[in-house]
Amino acid sequence: MTIHHHSDVLIIGSGAAGLTCALNLSKHFSINLLCKSDLSEGSTYYAQGGIAAVLDNMDSVDSHVNDTLIAGAGLCKEQAVRMTVENSREAIEWLIEQGVSFSQEQQADGSNNYHLTQEGGHSHRRIIHSADATGKAVQTTLSDLVKQQTNIRLFENYNAVDLITSHKLGLIGHENRCFGAYAFNRNQSKVELFQAKFVVLATGGASKVYLYTSNPDISSGDGIAMAWRSGCRIANMEFNQFHPTCLFHSKAHSFLITEALRGEGAYLKLPNGERFMPRFDERAELAPRDIVARAIDHEIKRLGIDCVYLDISHKDSDFIKSHFPTIYQRLLPLNIDITQQAIPVVPAAHYTCGGVVVDNHAKTDISNLFAIGEVAFTGLHGANRMASNSLLECLVYARAAAKQIRKQSKELEDIKVDIPAWDESKVSDSDEEVIVSHNWHELRHLMWNYVGIVRTTKRLERAQRRILLLKQEVKEYYSNFKVSSNLLELRNLLTVAELIIECSMRRKESRGLHYTLDYPDLDESAKDTIVSKLD
Ligand code: FAD
Ligand code: SIN
Repeated sequence: MTIHHHSDVLIIGSGAAGLTCALNLSKHFSINLLCKSDLSEGSTYYAQGGIAAVLDNMDSVDSHVNDTLIAGAGLCKEQAVRMTVENSREAIEWLIEQGVSFSQEQQADGSNNYHLTQEGGHSHRRIIHSADATGKAVQTTLSDLVKQQTNIRLFENYNAVDLITSHKLGLIGHENRCFGAYAFNRNQSKVELFQAKFVVLATGGASKVYLYTSNPDISSGDGIAMAWRSGCRIANMEFNQFHPTCLFHSKAHSFLITEALRGEGAYLKLPNGERFMPRFDERAELAPRDIVARAIDHEIKRLGIDCVYLDISHKDSDFIKSHFPTIYQRLLPLNIDITQQAIPVVPAAHYTCGGVVVDNHAKTDISNLFAIGEVAFTGLHGANRMASNSLLECLVYARAAAKQIRKQSKELEDIKVDIPAWDESKVSDSDEEVIVSHNWHELRHLMWNYVGIVRTTKRLERAQRRILLLKQEVKEYYSNFKVSSNLLELRNLLTVAELIIECSMRRKESRGLHYTLDYPDLDESAKDTIVSKLD
């Protein structure tokens, strides 16, 4: 028998976006909050640099907006950028009220101000941070608060499988409305049903589709794939951001070296000690990420080297230890003392700029279905996200979604629906798990090699052909065997890969994070790439 849960709101995801939305609704609504692993496991927890916001009197909304538009290489939606930046101060004040502790510095008159750091693309110091572990401070504070709310019921170790919509239920005459989701209880290996008046996708990004990534394992694009299967439009998936500086070390994977290091004066160097960024851009190490990542990729390929080096050792040792304690401590056991030595780094997949198309209230194409945080496409990032604008987007849009849900709940038409139980009668236990693990590996390799920092049409076509084969195998497997967490993620990653390739093939130019040797120039009339099942 399928267990059936009910709540006013179902929130899928417990990062900065999901937790912020839950806390802004918990006074008046019952909430079921799902996450795939522990409550705190997600990209938010690992965020280092900080959160961009207009907090300094010398800074301005116009300046932050302008920097974002420049980094976005002509594709940001100015109205989304303005709304995000205008709400930035309030969003940070809300976090401070919740108890998040940000780094402070003493002023000449003895008073304390929040320390603001600098990152690529920003023309002001405007990144509020908690040393070099900002995400941990945000995630743990909000997680602790959520645990105290009686209106919020937590479901850890649950993979949402698919959304339940009126069209899937066969209610075709009606608008397409979301009624909940099926979710796989990993502890019990059973699918359960979560019915709700409103559903919020807050499932994070999809960088796990690449072999090398700064992201944790949960970032498998589940929300994007679920929304796509339900009929939502998806946009700009070709713009996957590669962070220029992830640690290159055989004993430590997926460890980011924050851009704030470059903001505080670190240099990128070749193995012979030569600084190379000034050759690529006048902003040198503080050029936007797409430019820095491409420059590193170029130098690595040109010289046949494994990595380049990030060096902050010319700065005062106490300054380094107090601003970057996490990185300092993490690298010492690997015999890298960052106060004395340069850090070996390579680019890695970091952020999904595209996603589920939403409006300013985080509403998707399906009624009562919202998308917030990295899963969503708001138009803020354009062709390249500026550093530290992502956590800001999570906060601003989570609060906007909560406000919209409060408003819509007053006029909600109560439709009685009969939702079928999860049907397992035609499937058996898997006898060939190797297909799942092999295809996972193959997918992530081919995405890295053919759909990475520098693309060509031929490589994209090659990747597309292979994805089709993998999809057929996984479809067959999904129809015959009981679901597992790995199978669900692989199925979603294949959908995400297909969307990235489709969007990349449609863009006949190079812009921001999408660079192809076949179309190296800008197309002046370029627009967002919006894909729909109705195309
Ligand atoms: P996440 O925090 O990734 O949370 C996703 C949640 O969804 C998790 O709870 C997960 O379990 C759940 N989930 C996923 N799929 C399912 C499913 N099928 N069923 C149930 N639950 C599901 N941005 C900045 O602005 N500043 C920074 O300094 C910064 N540093 C970063 C450093 C690193 C190493 C990384 C990886 C990212 C960084 N970013 C930074 C980006 C930023 O952290 C993320 O974009 C942001 O945290 C995403 O938050 P989110 O709430 O959308 O998703
Ligand atoms: C970093 O600290 O370099 C990451 C910042 C971000 O992804 O916005």
